[in-house]
Amino acid sequence: MSRSFYITTAIDYANGAPHLGHAYEKVLSDVIARHHRMLGEKVHFLTGLDEHGQKVQQTAQKLKVEPQQFVDGIAVIFQEMLKNLQISNDDYIRTTQPRHQKVVQDFLQKLYDQGLIYLGKKTDWYSTRQEQFLTDKDRDENGNWPEIYGEVTQTTEENYYFKLSQFQPWLIEHIQSHPDFINPSFRRKQVLEFLKEPLNDLCISRPKSRLTWGIELPFDRQFVTYVWFDALTNYYSAVVEKGLWPADIHVIGKDILSPPHAVYWPCMLKALGIEPPKQLLVHGWWTINSQKASKSAGNAADTLALAKLYGTDAFRYYLSREMVVGQDADFSEKVFADKYKADLSHNLGNLVNRLLTMVGRHYQGTVPAPAADEESEKSLRQLWMQTEKKYLASFAECQISHALEALWVFISAMNAYIENRAPWKLAKSTDPLDKARLDSCLALVAEGLRLVSIVLTPVLPETCAKLQSTLGLDSPRLYEGQLSWSQRCTGLKVAEKCILFPPIETVAESP
Ligand code: MSP
Repeated sequence: MSRSFYITTAIDYANGAPHLGHAYEKVLSDVIARHHRMLGEKVHFLTGLDEHGQKVQQTAQKLKVEPQQFVDGIAVIFQEMLKNLQISNDDYIRTTQPRHQKVVQDFLQKLYDQGLIYLGKKTDWYSTRQEQFLTDKDRDENGNWPEIYGEVTQTTEENYYFKLSQFQPWLIEHIQSHPDFINPSFRRKQVLEFLKEPLNDLCISRPKSRLTWGIELPFDRQFVTYVWFDALTNYYSAVVEKGLWPADIHVIGKDILSPPHAVYWPCMLKALGIEPPKQLLVHGWWTINSQKASKSAGNAADTLALAKLYGTDAFRYYLSREMVVGQDADFSEKVFADKYKADLSHNLGNLVNRLLTMVGRHYQGTVPAPAADEESEKSLRQLWMQTEKKYLASFAECQISHALEALWVFISAMNAYIENRAPWKLAKSTDPLDKARLDSCLALVAEGLRLVSIVLTPVLPETCAKLQSTLGLDSPRLYEGQLSWSQRCTGLKVAEKCILFPPIETVAESP
């Protein structure tokens, strides 16, 4: 039986339209999911929408619509984005769905029955924007509340608390003994640093007097569930019937690593006797002119329109290539346009067309066999073997930008090779050795492009399918049996022309 692979994204807040940050996380997860499908694994890819909480309630109120009606509209917009970006998710969870609500209530009831949830009264600082209680530790060096918390007010409230602190020693031990649990490792160190301070218990309820838009506590109908307790449970509730737990990878942004994903979630699961997820893959932020791309900054909406202008695959390429997973990256249309031209249109697109033109002109469109014992074949083949290794190793660490870098070294080497060989000159020669060189040159480039079209499929699915049909190949569903250097393009009938990346006229000027 094939190995199963369960990957999730964070579920997006339903209080506004999608932006670049949301798009990126879906693309990254999709690339990883597609790669694992091609490895032959049984992949389950989940994404969804976080629909409860104060912000959603407030936004719906402002618009004078019922919260459910409001989030239904938002869900359509988010799912539209997934479609536009060719995201291949297998399921879409919404926290208002009964399948999810039931599991949240089961979790709460179990914890309550075990005495792990208690009623307490506390006076605390509360941030409405972040929907979280704050302590003095959250103040900045001047004693003020950082901007991200918005308005902070003091409230005295009776609420239910989960005995989070009791799981701190277990959590530290778990993170220490599972080096892959938090990827990249510098984030793991930050979490361990955070855990040097004692944890407070986690307030998991909100009184209905303040918030009604949430899942009722099963043991006290006067309260709804705290939105993070609700939201985190999605990863489990979506697959409980499918037997796919534990998740292999939760893909999340750095802002929601600690405490929600690295502390609350594993401790909740531990308390319930459920295994933790295997890995949290933590990406950084996209910034625009050094400011975090976000709904409130209003700087990130237009970037999604670029996927239409340049094409979905090109957008996926730029996001995957430009962000080193874990680090922040600045989004620039200028850089996007440059990469589009240099990497996609020139380096890859022109190489394809050179091949098609030469094969069309001198071989009636049928790829020739390479001549035996060609030195050039050996060196390209060796470079391919190194590239394949690096590509797969980078993917295994979810470092997609490194994988693409390696692949473009190979594509550039093919361009250099064709420049060197100058097949257009060889074609004019009457020397039979030159004829053999021409055979080899075109056969090798065809083979190189075949290999590129296979490993690049997770990132550029539409382009690769188009390239394969241009080369007269079927599109393989698996890597298996496809990645070794071969002569299988020989005898294939190629198309006359193929524009993979047309020139784009409208390109923004750099600021
Ligand atoms: N609803 C919570 C997650 C609950 S998961 C159980 C949430 N939603 S969010 O809409 O604010 O963010 C969704 C994801 O998008 C998060 O992983 C977040 O880090 C990511 N991004 C939001 N803005 C981002 C950037 N500017 N850049 C990259 N990703 C960022 O948090």
